[in-house]
This record gives sequence, C-alpha cells and structure tokens, in this order.
Amino acid sequence: MKLLVYFSYTGHTKYIAEIIKQNINCDVIRLEPVISYSNDYNKVVNDEQNQESSDKIPEIKDINIDLDLYDTIIIGTPVWWYRSAPVIRAFLKKYDLSNKIIIPYATNAGWLGKTFNEIKSLCSNSKVVNEFNIVFTSDYNKNELVTPIETIKNWINNI
Ligand SMILES: Cc1cc2nc3c(=O)[nH]c(=O)nc-3n(C[C@H](O)[C@H](O)[C@H](O)COP(=O)(O)O)c2cc1C
Repeated sequence: MKLLVYFSYTGHTKYIAEIIKQNINCDVIRLEPVISYSNDYNKVVNDEQNQESSDKIPEIKDINIDLDLYDTIIIGTPVWWYRSAPVIRAFLKKYDLSNKIIIPYATNAGWLGKTFNEIKSLCSNSKVVNEFNIVFTSDYNKNELVTPIETIKNWINNI
C-alpha cells in the first residue's frame, strides 16, 4: 500500500498530490507545522533564507497513522532555499521509514539545489527511487506548470 505525504505552503505541491491521488491508489496526508507560517509570502521567504544553512526544523503535528501499513511512501515537498521544506525534514527525522521505498517529488521555480541528495541522506535506511522534479512558474498565486503535464502523468504511471 502507498502513502503520499506532502507539505504545501502556496498550493503547488498540493495540486500535484491531487493529480497523483486521482491516478493511483494511495492514502494521503498533508503535514502541518505546529506553529503555522505567516501568510506574508515575502516574510516567509526572507525568514527562511536566514534558516537556509541551519538544520533547525519546526515541530510538526502528529500524523495519527500506522506507517507499518505502507511499503511505499511518496513524499512531496516544495523547494525552500535549495533544500526540501523544513516540515519535510522534520517528518523524515521524526518517523522511522527504514526499509520502505521512498519516492520523492519536489515542486519549485527551477532551482532544485540539493533537495533530492539531502532526502537520500536523511533516508539512508530506505530505498529512494524515481525522484521527480516539477517546475512551476514563479507566480506562486497560480498553479501554472512549466513541466509538461504529460511528463508528470508519465512519471505517475511509473510509480
Ligand atoms: C521560503 C521559500 C523558499 C523558496 N526557495 C526556492 C528555491 O530555492 N528554489 C526554487 O526554485 N523555488 C523556491 N521557492 C519557490 C517554491 O519552491 C515553489 O513556488 C513551490 O512550487 C511552492 O510549493 P507550494 O505551493 O506547495 O508551497 C521558494 C519558496 C519559498 C516560500
């Protein structure tokens, strides 16, 4: 059984999660920090730039799900300053995903940075496969894809 776990601040990663859910049989969980991020986008961008090289991660809400039920975890993250979002790093540190198959996808505006390499090192006891990068335009108010939808559907069909 597959579980899709994602975090989304402006909705892009959620939009992709919904497309995945329409196409494959999986349960879905949206991660939330205990203390919500500001609604002021530029403030979040600036605050997080100061955290870029820090390993400080937020506390996240409990997910209330039995991870033993799942052999495959799809993980969706926006890219925040060339890394996975801190909420995703918090999830990977909080829960034991040993021996599971991890399929990460990232959404971003074209600067992926070390996102997937870092996820691989955080999941060193799991098998990380089929990582996929999805680019949106930098207009964060819209779900405007740069990556062709056919390319995304091909990836979904192979996971
Ligand atoms: C704090 C912050 C940092 C970001 N850093 C990057 C970055 O390093 N590279 C990039 O291409 N996009 C960056 N972006 C843009 C987001 O990765 C992109 O809009 C993503 O699709 C947003 O996903 P979401 O709508 O699910 O939150 C950043 C956005 C925020 C809010």
